[in-house]
Amino acid sequence: MKLKIATLPGDGIGPEVTNEAIKVLKAIASEFDHTFIFEEANVGAIAIDKTGNPLPDETLELCMTTDAILFGSIGHPKYDNDPSAKVRPEQGLLKLRKSLGLFANIRPVKAYKTLLDKSPLKKEIISGTDISIYRELTGGIYFGEKQLSKDGNTASDLCEYNRFEIERIAHLAFKAALNRKKKVTLVDKANVLESSRLWRKVVGEVAKEYSEVALDFLFVDNAAMQMILNPKQFDVILTENMFGDIISDEASVIGGSIGLLASASIGEKYALFEPIHGSYPQATGKSIANPIASILSAAMLLDHFQLTKEAALVRKAVDKSLKLQITTPDLNSKTDMVTTSKVGDFIEDFINNPNDTNVNFTNIHLGQSTII
Ligand code: IPM
Ligand code: MN
Repeated sequence: MKLKIATLPGDGIGPEVTNEAIKVLKAIASEFDHTFIFEEANVGAIAIDKTGNPLPDETLELCMTTDAILFGSIGHPKYDNDPSAKVRPEQGLLKLRKSLGLFANIRPVKAYKTLLDKSPLKKEIISGTDISIYRELTGGIYFGEKQLSKDGNTASDLCEYNRFEIERIAHLAFKAALNRKKKVTLVDKANVLESSRLWRKVVGEVAKEYSEVALDFLFVDNAAMQMILNPKQFDVILTENMFGDIISDEASVIGGSIGLLASASIGEKYALFEPIHGSYPQATGKSIANPIASILSAAMLLDHFQLTKEAALVRKAVDKSLKLQITTPDLNSKTDMVTTSKVGDFIEDFINNPNDTNVNFTNIHLGQSTII
């Protein structure tokens, strides 16, 4: 298969982790005889520095002419600490999502057997957790009208949804549930918000088309508690934009590191793949950032194009790296230093030698990747 992939590394650790995902995709391309062509463009704070615009026109144009987008991360402390900044890096990502119609953000969360002791949560609570979060991505409070009074003392953000926006992501969530444990939990705040009541009504109607799937409702405050009390109860979580943002960061604690969580942002026409983590400015350039979220986002990209064997091999390689503790410091306090690129090297190496059953696998591959 021939794919043109736009790479938007962005800010902070974005370039470092994206490099590893590209490395892995290149290994897949050579192993399976595909042609993946990568083209890079600016987004976020780096784009503001270069052009004054967090999403330059040429970046958007590139994204519109490629088959898929691999996104790194955006954000910079100089904007975080300046509420009066007129232009912000995040606007680049939000505009990209809106312009490309990426209405569904899918965030898989699972507890890896080999990492159960990395989570601050008890093993018996998280073991077996496997959740797919369907977060609405182009509506709600993120995109509603924003106002600041003239005197600067009153501000508001409108949370608005319509039936169409709810229906289209609900269908995706129910379809996903059909191939999983057949349960959808709608997370909302229907006891307070009118927009949430519309979600309940519309999702209830959509559910009738999927009689095999059980539908559950949960208020977001309760869902936040249930996520750490009993995460195994969840299968597919369906929710609006901001609740999904918050709940998914919380859910990342189950896996042991936010550096593991990948996502796919899907629309009618375009698809973007990105880690859920931010730009982690403190780690920039130190080669300590975990590239797994970016690499697993690349696996989701492969899945999107029905390259299931390829995606499975990437996941197998990731599992192996976790099992052998070839992981960055967020998951590994013992080793001196497994750098971002060493993790990528190992995974690349595994993909290039998928049938290696050598009992000395660890040493050989560590040796090849010069990890120790
Ligand atoms: C995410 C991020 C973004 C969001 C930010 C960077 C705008 O936190 O993808 O989860 O809030 O959607
Ligand atoms: Mn977020």
